[in-house]
Amino acid sequence: MKNGARFAFHDLAPGEESFRDAVLAGLERAPKRIPCKFFYDARGSALFEEICRLPEYYPTRTEVVILEENSSDIAAQMGPHCRVIEFGSGASQKIRILLQALERPAAYVPVDISREHLRDAAIGLAEDFPSVPVVAVCADYTRPFPLPPLPGAGGKRVGFFPGSTIGNFEPDAAVAFLANYAHILGPKGEMLIGVDLKKETDILEAAYNDRAGVTAAFNLNLLERVNRELDGDLDIDRFEHLAFYSSAEGRVEIYIRSLAHQTAQIAGRRFRFAKDELVHTEYSYKYSVDEFRVLAARAGFRPVDTWTDPGELFSVHYFRLR
Ligand code: TRP
Repeated sequence: MKNGARFAFHDLAPGEESFRDAVLAGLERAPKRIPCKFFYDARGSALFEEICRLPEYYPTRTEVVILEENSSDIAAQMGPHCRVIEFGSGASQKIRILLQALERPAAYVPVDISREHLRDAAIGLAEDFPSVPVVAVCADYTRPFPLPPLPGAGGKRVGFFPGSTIGNFEPDAAVAFLANYAHILGPKGEMLIGVDLKKETDILEAAYNDRAGVTAAFNLNLLERVNRELDGDLDIDRFEHLAFYSSAEGRVEIYIRSLAHQTAQIAGRRFRFAKDELVHTEYSYKYSVDEFRVLAARAGFRPVDTWTDPGELFSVHYFRLR
């Protein structure tokens, strides 16, 4: 740690669902599925960073530009001495844009389940922003957990949830997630959240089917992971990535499709895949500004402001609790 940096680490010892249990249970179901939270092993995280730089994958760069261009308006909403609480903080990159604009923030509180990654990212941030106390919390933020006492008592608590990760929940689960966030923020909580917008099918489908095949590799890495970690013998060449936009459901649906009738051995058990059978891996819901305001209202949030890019690709909302 460099001199001057202020850093605390709270480990709430979250129990993680094992990859083995999730895969065995998910492939037993009809339709089959592997939950999307398992995308991000070391290889998956590297592939996702590559996705974020692809010409077709507009969400990351568009959200960054929205945050940069509107950072003084956003900072004005958040006010002086606020405490920013970020669920799923990962590499803690986007928060840097806000920390440069905020007036004497009282604390930055990154919350993540991935202990080592959280520690490294939080220390790096504390070193780069020595005037901002960093209080890292290792916890499963999809459930209630107690926040440790934070510096700047009395200052408001603002949630920061970028990346349109909210779109990876089904709508009722998204409301439950936001309600839990609201509960943890407390009665005067506020929220800055990034949400991908509805738009033409071509743009959406290209973003999840890039020409270089990085998204396909990212999705199929789940099967590689099964082979590596669960002693699997899946023939990856006989599966393919599938992603399409359903306008009826307002979501991109992502699957792995079996190209042949085949069987595979995983952790000592045998699984059968029919030709064209789908394994669901993720949904990515898209919302108009008004649709997302209606959803957030179900969790008690009232809209304050929304910023978008000129192409109306992505939105960043500011909410207060009612
Ligand atoms: N949460 C991201 C999203 O919905 C993750 C993502 C990008 C993704 N490309 C993907 C997930 C391809 C599965 C497959 O945009």
